[in-house]
Amino acid sequence: MTVNPARRPLIVGSGIAGLYVALRSHEMGLRPTIVTKARLEESNTRYAQGGIAAAIGPDDSPALHLADTVRAGDGLVDRAAARVLTSEAPARIADLVRYGVPFDTVEGQIALGQEAAHSRRRILHAGGDATGLSIEEALKRHVLAAGIEVRERTILRALRPGGKDGPVPVISDAEGRRAEVLVSQPVILATGGAGSLYRQSSNPSIATGEGVAIAFRAGALLADMEFIQFHPTVFWREGAPRFLISEALRGEGAVLRNSAGERFMVGLHPDAELAPRDVVARAIDREIQRTGHPAVYLDATGIPRDRLFARFPSICRFLAAYGIDPSRDEIPVTPAAHFMIGGVATDLEGRTSVRGLYACGEVASTGVHGANRLASNSLLEGVVFGERVARRLAHPADGAPKPPGTVVEFPWRPGAGPQGDMAVFEEVRDLLWNDVGIVRSASGLESALETLEGLGHNVEPARPDDLADPIANAVLTAALVARAALTRTESRGAHYRIDHPRARPAWLRHIGLRRPARAARAK
Ligand code: SIN
Repeated sequence: MTVNPARRPLIVGSGIAGLYVALRSHEMGLRPTIVTKARLEESNTRYAQGGIAAAIGPDDSPALHLADTVRAGDGLVDRAAARVLTSEAPARIADLVRYGVPFDTVEGQIALGQEAAHSRRRILHAGGDATGLSIEEALKRHVLAAGIEVRERTILRALRPGGKDGPVPVISDAEGRRAEVLVSQPVILATGGAGSLYRQSSNPSIATGEGVAIAFRAGALLADMEFIQFHPTVFWREGAPRFLISEALRGEGAVLRNSAGERFMVGLHPDAELAPRDVVARAIDREIQRTGHPAVYLDATGIPRDRLFARFPSICRFLAAYGIDPSRDEIPVTPAAHFMIGGVATDLEGRTSVRGLYACGEVASTGVHGANRLASNSLLEGVVFGERVARRLAHPADGAPKPPGTVVEFPWRPGAGPQGDMAVFEEVRDLLWNDVGIVRSASGLESALETLEGLGHNVEPARPDDLADPIANAVLTAALVARAALTRTESRGAHYRIDHPRARPAWLRHIGLRRPARAARAK
């Protein structure tokens, strides 16, 4: 089949998924454009430390990687998606090497690190702990060399229905001025996650989840929105920025201690500090609540100094600015929102329930992570499903995601807005952290949802043709997480309800969210 080069996919976002779809679709003969809300290289990918997982070691196999992914996902991993992820991983790593990603090596072989819940060493890294940065820079170089059109400081405002080739995107500059209605074209959401909607977050401030809000308004089905992964160890100091302290440090032997110096993970889980992320994050949260001390401590002093500084140069540099030498000093850490497991529901080729609208990377929900993402499967997801999206763009055919077991119709009504300001955004961050965070309850979720609906009334535009602004998107995304979390009356993976502390077999199904059909409109 020949490729129609006139097809001009619009890729929204410039993390690993967006850059990869752009490069690969361009190589397949298409003419993509990237729009991105900040600079081309600014994305969540840039801050990813630990690495990218792939079964390339002599003692490893995609089947083992699949088994670990399924186990971490606590009953909800879509096996077909995880099989795609793990079996296509080695080929995508070869692509990244071809694009010049300088993975670290030992004696000429790619070095493989260890992270929690992986049964083998299979974490590729670059620049020690600068894996995301190294990948982002390599892909960016190729995007620029290929002459792919890039529009920086440009945001997607809406997806209007009715186009022949896909939705009709409306974009504007980052300040919301100069709205531009584009022609109908395939749109690929690669807008990343929503971590910075939480008060404590490992994400950069651009990670505000607008992709899900815009897709939801356009009538797209969402899935698994209740599953927000909290990273156990983010640097804590009053007034200091939160900074990820990679799980790979625990993979290399660092241990957690409470303020009394005790190793509280021993006895709690057979894998102690390398237990699944949700277990470690909740244990730290409990220690913080129990002791009233705002942090616990990561003790990396058992790792030889040379090794520590060679393997984790960015972390060591960051800590030095706070007078901490991790070969001598313990590192104060706290959990923080890290990864949006759910998102816009897609099939295995990135197709959403809206014709011509694709999603990949963190904004998408393929079901590959289940209820709890395995460490270092997220950069991998960006390239594996990015490749599949690019191929589908080159040879389009209709398809749609499987409907989740439960679909909740969530009426999000037009409001009296837009009247939001940054104070609303800050309120959302506190609400999510306090009531839709690591430990949830019906009363907290109901109260958060009620407040968010009230805020929504002020910020959601009144008329279908008015454009929602970033504050309205933040409020809606937060409400979608709260709605799904209230619906799931059990605890599973990253979703923990103190009023339903156990997993229930009846909830071995995904929760979808969509607008009621009559209300679905694309503003
Ligand atoms: C980390 O380096 O700890 C983060 C890796 C990940 O989230 O996959």
